[in-house]
Amino acid sequence: MARATTRHVCQACGAVHPRWAGRCDACGGWNSITEEAAPDAAPVGGKARAAKRNSRTIDFVALDGEKQPTPRRKTGIREFDRVAGGGLVPGSALLIGGDPGIGKSTLLLQAVAGLTKSTVGARCAYISGEESIDQVRMRAERLAVTNAPVQLAAATNVRDVIASLDTKEAPDVVVIDSIQTMYLDALESAPGTVSQVRASAQELIRMAKRRGITMLLVGHVTKEGTIAGPRVLEHMVDTVMYFEGERGHQFRILRAVKNRFGPTDEIGVFEMTEGGLEEVANPSALFLADRTDDVSGAAVFAGIEGSRPMLVEIQALVAASPLGTPRRNVVGWDSGRLSMILAVLESRAGMSFAGKDVYLNVAGGLRISEPAADLAVAAALTSALSGLPLPGEMVVFGEIGLSGEIRAVSQMAARLKEAGKLGFTKALTPNWRGKPSSEGLDVRACASVGDLFGLFPEPGASKPRAVG
Ligand code: TYD
Ligand code: MG
Repeated sequence: MARATTRHVCQACGAVHPRWAGRCDACGGWNSITEEAAPDAAPVGGKARAAKRNSRTIDFVALDGEKQPTPRRKTGIREFDRVAGGGLVPGSALLIGGDPGIGKSTLLLQAVAGLTKSTVGARCAYISGEESIDQVRMRAERLAVTNAPVQLAAATNVRDVIASLDTKEAPDVVVIDSIQTMYLDALESAPGTVSQVRASAQELIRMAKRRGITMLLVGHVTKEGTIAGPRVLEHMVDTVMYFEGERGHQFRILRAVKNRFGPTDEIGVFEMTEGGLEEVANPSALFLADRTDDVSGAAVFAGIEGSRPMLVEIQALVAASPLGTPRRNVVGWDSGRLSMILAVLESRAGMSFAGKDVYLNVAGGLRISEPAADLAVAAALTSALSGLPLPGEMVVFGEIGLSGEIRAVSQMAARLKEAGKLGFTKALTPNWRGKPSSEGLDVRACASVGDLFGLFPEPGASKPRAVG
């Protein structure tokens, strides 16, 4: 029977289709299906798997049983170790995604150098498919880690990589920089395509699990913000981390979005310096470093990132617009959420942003996704619209509902405590039942967005312009 030698694979989700189509049924992506040679050859790693074998019965066990505590290898970079859940787990696979040039290679080279120097003294290999040996050495020199016993190689053929690593002297930790440059010669499609990325990752991860190697895979991110090529990669690995930051800012944030061995939503904060990435132990102080009191449109948001409270400044600017459709520009927050807050302020508090450009910025390049930032955004917008600064030394948090009510958020005491530690004396919060400890702050509870007017010194004279 004649068999197709090519197949059509969606480059966004990895779904295989019998024929080309403009739209992928599986993920709904347009123009993402390309033709590829069908894989018929055996995978690497020696002999082809036997197609036929007698089936064995599997053993079932109870949920409750002996379990070993997960051993961890620490890199010594505390921000990295915390995001990983307390260190790297042997036999696990991690995917580190991020825009090109954000610092993934730098972070991982520092991490493996740290591992070799830590008390455990893990053996580490760094395999670069993107840069030459000289380039990596130059970076190592810049990072001052040339004395770390890391085994370095430049390779892209997965078969060679596996043959070199799949030995008794296998290293404990391996970095593959990046998975998009790796290829299996058994497949005909080009490196970076979904089938190559998926098959290469599969082979590398299988070997890592068998040998107890921690496999760190670097993945590039597409313009749409997903790890280039396949979502399937995210399912194959144990941990997915994103390394992000705004261009032109020196701050970098490492964020775990999936972690089988630790919490997600934990973030690590770094600063890119001349000598590599430096940990930022107290991010709030750093994010607030350039803050000036007495400017309108600025509010300090007491947020929670993972397990840590984190204070950031939210800045708003409202200016008369020459455009028919005024601009709504957001950096570091969700633009849909901004539209919602503007609509609530207009219809529930009588403010008018019509004919005005609105700019919103989270200072320092952090991205906030917590709804708890709503009230801080509303306070910054109110202040920007009225041209009056908010009271100094005040932090703000609370979620805003569509009827303008301010809702309670999680971990309010932790937010206040962090604010107190950093010298803040006032807080604008939701109304909250059960007497909270105010952590020594002057807490003003706020029931609805209308209460924002009360923040300004002379409410009568300085009330932001209302409609009608
Ligand atoms: P890199 O790790 O190569 O990024 P990625 O692997 O994510 O593509 O980082 C590249 C950027 O980092 C580059 O613009 C230079 C900058 N950099 C520093 O500022 N300081 C340093 O010590 C290093 C090594 C890089
Ligand atoms: Mg790189």
